[in-house]
Amino acid sequence: MDYDSFLELAKNRRSIRRFKPDPIPDEYVDKIIEAARWAPSGFNSQPWEFVVIKDKKLKDDVMQIVRPPRPAGASGFSKMEDMCEPWMRRKLQPWLDTEMEYQNAPVFILLFGDTRTQVGLPMVVRYDPYLRQSIYISSLANTFLYMLLAATTLGLASQWVSVVASPYNHCALKNLLHIPTEVDIYDMVALGYPAYKSRPKLMRPVGKMIHRDYFGEEDFRTDEEVRDFIKRTRAWVFANHRRGADKNMLG
Ligand SMILES: Cc1cc2nc3c(=O)[nH]c(=O)nc-3n(C[C@H](O)[C@H](O)[C@H](O)COP(=O)(O)O)c2cc1C
Repeated sequence: MDYDSFLELAKNRRSIRRFKPDPIPDEYVDKIIEAARWAPSGFNSQPWEFVVIKDKKLKDDVMQIVRPPRPAGASGFSKMEDMCEPWMRRKLQPWLDTEMEYQNAPVFILLFGDTRTQVGLPMVVRYDPYLRQSIYISSLANTFLYMLLAATTLGLASQWVSVVASPYNHCALKNLLHIPTEVDIYDMVALGYPAYKSRPKLMRPVGKMIHRDYFGEEDFRTDEEVRDFIKRTRAWVFANHRRGADKNMLG
């Protein structure tokens, strides 16, 4: 593969939050996991476990845990967002709480990690909780990203669903899926054919993210620049979520 093809793949992998109901061939799921298991992991620990869910009833059970029906605007998400720093506060719409459409995705893959593998990490990190955890989590993040890239090559769309890892959801999902005690959730991806096209991505300009040899004063963003980007990217992300919830949105 040449660089241009790789860059194209990196750009084409985008989050889509609403899917066509069409099923995905089983072979695609196998291919996605085949690619993902080649991801780099700390000390080649390969801590990953993939739980593939296609069964409608089981997907509904997952959704019941992750997004139980609530009166509009009543979830913790909006309430907590209302408490963020005033400079980045936005007036939120109820759709962010109640109308996530990824339940229609034909396949969910939940990625778990086997915590017992951490003992195989080098001794220099083993007794440092931060390093041990960061190597373990980075390994899981790598395999997760490989799944997303592989899905993209197959013409599939994906949504990263991190709310599965909140304490209650984690506990309830382990119980639902008979996950052993030693195995912990990382995140979930919803996969399917896209129901709409993603918007152009809001990108941070490359200039100030590269530091040649040393961090220079001129290439270190000011507080104002960081805040400005945060405000713009939060608005962009919220607008994307709205697109995911808007069933009229096709293009
Ligand atoms: C660690 C991580 C967690 C994420 N969690 C969620 C999530 O829970 N729900 C969601 O819709 N998107 C989630 N995303 C997707 C990001 O919002 C998305 O990647 C970002 O807005 C950039 O858009 P793009 O994926 O289209 O490039 C997550 C991404 C990452 C890297």
